[in-house]
Amino acid sequence: MSDLSLTQAMSTLRAVRRLRPDPIPEEVLERVLQAAAWAPTGGNAQPWRIVLVRDADAKARLGTLYAAQWTEFAKGYEARFEALPEEDVARERRTLDAGNYLAEHLHEAPVIAVFCFNPKMMAITDIKQPRVSVVGGGSVYPAVQNLLLAARAEGLGCVLTTLLCQVEPEVREILAIPEPWGTAAAIPLGYPIGTGHGPIRRRAVGSLVFEDTFGNKRGSP
Ligand SMILES: Cc1cc2nc3c(=O)[nH]c(=O)nc-3n(C[C@H](O)[C@H](O)[C@H](O)COP(=O)(O)O)c2cc1C
Repeated sequence: MSDLSLTQAMSTLRAVRRLRPDPIPEEVLERVLQAAAWAPTGGNAQPWRIVLVRDADAKARLGTLYAAQWTEFAKGYEARFEALPEEDVARERRTLDAGNYLAEHLHEAPVIAVFCFNPKMMAITDIKQPRVSVVGGGSVYPAVQNLLLAARAEGLGCVLTTLLCQVEPEVREILAIPEPWGTAAAIPLGYPIGTGHGPIRRRAVGSLVFEDTFGNKRGSP
């Protein structure tokens, strides 16, 4: 593990979509997986599992499925460019290029970590709300984030992807995932081709956090 501070890791954990096929040493992978296992979950149930996909045939099949989903997604992504200022278009096009690259090369990542979850093991406290339920994800994505941060600290490139969730039955068949397990994310892991992780662009805290009531701006810190 590198001696990167947590702040450095969090503030440079950008999506890395260009990965080298070089293998990841087992001890490095073990540390990354341990970080995932440290994550909190509702009732400490740990209702998630990871399928580490390293088999070439399985990766190729996932890659084909992912590419088809990406192609559809990318059409909508590109359609948004027309409404953007020119300087933003250049940046978004770089992201699109990186996404295209990943879609063509997903199978080359030495490892694809597929996060599965079991809804029967979860206390989903918002399930009766008349809106989409998100609490169940709270027992999966902290583990995903721990894995991403640990990967970043190890110098591994990675990106949280969810497009394969749209073809979950096919993924379930490829990876022999039994009912009632579902899939929450597929994370290609590998050493980056370029600089990898780096500066990120996010909204200012002031526009994301309110004081006492929703929408009420905080005073300057
Ligand atoms: C819930 C979620 C789903 C995502 N799904 C995908 C995906 O399927 N494919 C992909 O290339 N990136 C995916 N991403 C990565 C985001 O596009 C990326 O984190 C975001 O655009 C910010 O990019 P940056 O971290 O490089 O600044 C996903 C991220 C999240 C949090």
